[in-house]
This record gives sequence, structure tokens and C-alpha cells, in this order.
Amino acid sequence: MHRDDQAVAVRRLGADDWQLWRDVRLRALSEAPYAFGSTLAYWQGSDLEERWRGRLTDVPLNLVAVASDSAVGQVSGTSLDADGRVELISMWVDPASRGAGVGEALVQAVVDWAEAGGATAVVLSVKEANAPAVGLYARVGFRVTVEPADEGEMRMQLELPLS
Ligand SMILES: CC(C)(COP(=O)(O)OP(=O)(O)OC[C@H]1O[C@@H](n2cnc3c(N)ncnc32)[C@H](O)[C@@H]1OP(=O)(O)O)[C@@H](O)C(=O)NCCC(=O)NCCS
Repeated sequence: MHRDDQAVAVRRLGADDWQLWRDVRLRALSEAPYAFGSTLAYWQGSDLEERWRGRLTDVPLNLVAVASDSAVGQVSGTSLDADGRVELISMWVDPASRGAGVGEALVQAVVDWAEAGGATAVVLSVKEANAPAVGLYARVGFRVTVEPADEGEMRMQLELPLS
């Protein structure tokens, strides 16, 4: 897919959109379990409405990328930590839509939201071996930090405000 082939809209979700968020998140956890700390087993089940709504309430920024009326990606941004930093989490793009800038649009939307909210930085954890994700974050301006990370992962940070 070429970068100009599809118009992508980024839509912000609230708790009432939990079924849409769930559907995309379950696709992500099935397709790319290596990329996430969370598991499909934890989120699978028919009686989890409260859990999904809680997730969308606990984390203030939840975005889906929409192309041709289909959700093709998602990402979240947490509230500021004690150092004023937003954590970027739950990043995923459908394989059929990769390499077209959808991921970059989602990361940029989190960065814009964090900057508008006065954050000092956006931070994230990524598996060292996840080259597409590391490449995307580096392209947007994230740099590897010395902050301790879980086994096989590294921490990356983009300082704000952007000048
Ligand atoms: C990481 C991910 C979100 C990137 O999404 P994307 O929409 O492809 O992002 P972009 O189009 O902006 O480009 C990402 C990189 O993938 C590369 N890429 C190009 N075509 C690709 C394809 N068909 N499939 C996979 N990667 C491709 C691009 O070269 C680009 O690298 P670059 O920085 O060297 O140009 C996506 O690959 C994904 O969802 N992976 C599985 C989940 C995951 O790893 N999440 C991140 C957790 S930290």
C-alpha cells in the first residue's frame, strides 16, 4: 500500500465506544501478541463490559484510525505521571494497512494531545526486536533512554514541547 492510497481519520473514543475498542484490541492481541504486555486470555470473554469501560475511563486518550469506514489501528495515551510524562500504549495497525503512515498518524496524535495538555514528554516501552515499531518511533523523534526497562524491551522518549 502506498502512503497516499488511503485517507485515514483519527477518532477519539469514550467509554460508550467500548465494543469498537474491544474489537480492535482483540484483533491486535491475536495478531501481534509479541508486542504487548497484556494478553488475549485476559481480555477474552463475553461478560467483560465493565472491564472494557474501565480501561477506557482509566486511560484518558483512546484513538482509533479509521479508513473506508473500518477501524485499522489504535493507540492510547495515559494521564501525566509524577514527572509530567504521558505513556504511549496499545499501539497497533492492521497488517493490511501497515507501511502507509497510519502508525505515524496515531503516534503524532498522541504527541499533539500530550503537548496540548502540558506534558514534559511522551514515553513508551518497545521490544528491542520490534524493528517496525522502533523505526516508526525514531522517525517521529523518540530516542532511547537509559531508564530501566523490562527484559527484552527498551524505553523511548520524546521531550516536549517540540520547538
Ligand atoms: C509498529 C506498527 C504500529 C507500525 O504501523 P505502520 O502503520 O506500519 O507505521 P508506518 O507506516 O508509519 O511505518 C512503520 C515502519 O514499518 C515499515 N513498513 C513498511 N511497510 C510495511 C509493511 N507492509 N508491514 C510492516 N511494516 C512495514 C516502514 O518501513 C516503517 O519503517 P520506517 O520508519 O523505516 O519507514 C505496526 O507495524 C504494528 O501494529 N505492529 C504490531 C504491533 C506493534 O508492534 N505495536 C507497537 C508496540 S510498542
